[in-house]
Amino acid sequence: MGAHIIDGKACAASIEASLKPRVNQLITKGLNPHLAVIIVGDDPASHVYVRAKERACERLGIKSTKVLLPGDIDFQQVIDQVIQLNNDPTIHGILVQSPLPKGMDEVAITDLISPVKDVDGFHASNLGKLVQGDSSGLLPCTPSGVMEMLEWASVSLSGKRAVVIGRSRIVGMPQALLLSQKGADATVTIVHSRTQNPEEICREADILIAAVGVPEMVTSSWIKPGAVVIDVGVNRVEDNSKEKGYRLAGDVHHDVCEVASAISPVPGGVGPMTIAMLMSNTVRSAELQN
Ligand code: GUN
Repeated sequence: MGAHIIDGKACAASIEASLKPRVNQLITKGLNPHLAVIIVGDDPASHVYVRAKERACERLGIKSTKVLLPGDIDFQQVIDQVIQLNNDPTIHGILVQSPLPKGMDEVAITDLISPVKDVDGFHASNLGKLVQGDSSGLLPCTPSGVMEMLEWASVSLSGKRAVVIGRSRIVGMPQALLLSQKGADATVTIVHSRTQNPEEICREADILIAAVGVPEMVTSSWIKPGAVVIDVGVNRVEDNSKEKGYRLAGDVHHDVCEVASAISPVPGGVGPMTIAMLMSNTVRSAELQN
C-alpha cells in the first residue's frame, strides 16, 4: 500500500465551504439557488445518487425539487416537464438523471434544457464551448471534479502524458478535452474498446483516468511506476457477505496501490467531487441568471 490516497471527500468539503458564502450572498439578495432533478423510473443506483445530490443541496442552503416520473411515461411528457422547468424563473439548474428508460433519447432531452440551466454541462452548447476553449459555459461535473482533485493533490499536468480510458459523452471525452486544454497542457490519449494494446498504452501514462465501467479492470501491470491514478468507476459487484448483497468497486484493482504514487479511492474519491461540482454549477447558474 504505497500510494498516497487522494481524498475526494475532503476536496469536495473544501469546495462546498467556498460555495456557502456565495449561496448566502444570493439569499441575502432574495434569490435562493434552486436545482430541479428529474428522475424517470426506479433504477436503484439513480435514486441513491439523487438522494446524495439532495443532501448536498440541504448542506449548502440550495433549494432542490425532485420530479419523479414513472418509467413507462411518454417521452413527450418528459419533454413537457423540461420545458416547464426552463420557463420557471425560480429554477436555476435542471438535471435529468441518467440512465433514462430504454428507448428514451437522452441526448435529445439534454439538448432541450436551457444551456444556462444545464448544470450537468452536457448540452451541445456547453460541450461546444469546452471544445472552443470558451470558459463561459458550464462544465461537466465528473471531469471538472477530476481536474479539481488533481490540482488539490498538486499534480502537475503540463507536458505530462495523460491517458483516459473511456470515451463517453459524460466523462471520457470531456475529460480528454479538459486535460489537453490550454493551462492544463497534458498530452492526452484516449483508450477505448477498439484500442489495440490498451495495457501498453496505459503503462506510458503519468496520469491515468479510468472511466470505463468495468470493475477492477486496471491492474498493477497497466501502471507506470509513480503514476497518478484517478478511478472514476462506481460498479456494483455481487457480494453476499454484504448486507445489501453487493459491494462498490472502482475500475481500478487495489494492487495498483503498490505501483502508483497516488490514487483516488472508491468510494470517497470522484463521487463526492461530482456532487461538489454540481453544486458549484448550480450556484454559478443562479449567479448568471441573477
Ligand atoms: N448518472 C450518473 N452520473 C450522472 C451525472 O453526472 N449526471 C446525470 N444527470 N446522471 C448521471
